[in-house]
Amino acid sequence: MNETRKPIVVVGSVTMDMVTCTPQIPRIGQTVIGTSFSTTPGGKGANQAVAAARLGYPVQFVGMVGDDVYGPQLIDNLFHAGVDTSAMLAASGSSGLAPIFLAENGQNAIVVVPGANGKVDSAYVDKHLHVIRNAGMVLCQLELPMATIDHTLALCAQFDVPVMLDPAPAAALSDPVWKQVAWFTPNETEAAFYIDGGSDPEPVARELLARDLRGIVLKRGAEGAYVAVAGGKAGWVQPFAVDAIDTVAAGDCFNGAFAVALLEGKDPWAAARFACAASAISVTRHGAQASMPSRADLKSFLASRG
Ligand code: RIB
Repeated sequence: MNETRKPIVVVGSVTMDMVTCTPQIPRIGQTVIGTSFSTTPGGKGANQAVAAARLGYPVQFVGMVGDDVYGPQLIDNLFHAGVDTSAMLAASGSSGLAPIFLAENGQNAIVVVPGANGKVDSAYVDKHLHVIRNAGMVLCQLELPMATIDHTLALCAQFDVPVMLDPAPAAALSDPVWKQVAWFTPNETEAAFYIDGGSDPEPVARELLARDLRGIVLKRGAEGAYVAVAGGKAGWVQPFAVDAIDTVAAGDCFNGAFAVALLEGKDPWAAARFACAASAISVTRHGAQASMPSRADLKSFLASRG
């Protein structure tokens, strides 16, 4: 069968996560004895790409690895998850790396060292204009240089391609960016970076929408998600209760699944419910890309929850 769906295109980061499991995340100056260490593919962009691809949607990734030992592993992992990696490039130097502390209660602390992700520039994006022009939706995060994000979003505006921007890690955005984003998906900490005071999602969403955004999802982890549309409805999408063991990349799982559901024609609330289910499954598994559910996993999870 010929593929007629326009792909999700992720212009984003790919990183090798260096995960140290520990009873608790050390305080400043404290040494703790950890329980295990592993390297596992991550990076917010690549995680979102894998989340969408595992659900059976066509996905293309525009990003760079380094020419180190991790580069081929990172590309292979994306490829085997079903992501089109033909636009990827190995730049000289280190791949993106992310030391992560993962505590027994599922909480985490992450430092991202950009490596090759810092070399993804506008000239490289321009080499893949046809990919962006042909996208059903472009997904970006903030682990690439800001000039590259600005440029990518300007191209999406020019080609009339909707953009989902995950403002993670939170950083100041230029004025045109706000107008070019169809879906803005901060978690609670990131939302607080943009809107001062209060964690009540209703005023936060209202203030964010006032910046010309068209749609917002406030990701609230175990509380679910708050969805608001410019000039339209706003409200909570309830979470699925699960026993979380690893919350790394749960937000990325949400974004990949949310994009798939929107492109499959679900309304934003049904799409957010689908994405909440996907990320509920992901937190019951270890790893970032390794935790993303397949379509079959998601169907049986939703069936089991009625
Ligand atoms: O969102 C989780 C991701 O953030 C990790 O996989 C890590 O690579 C950092 O980019």
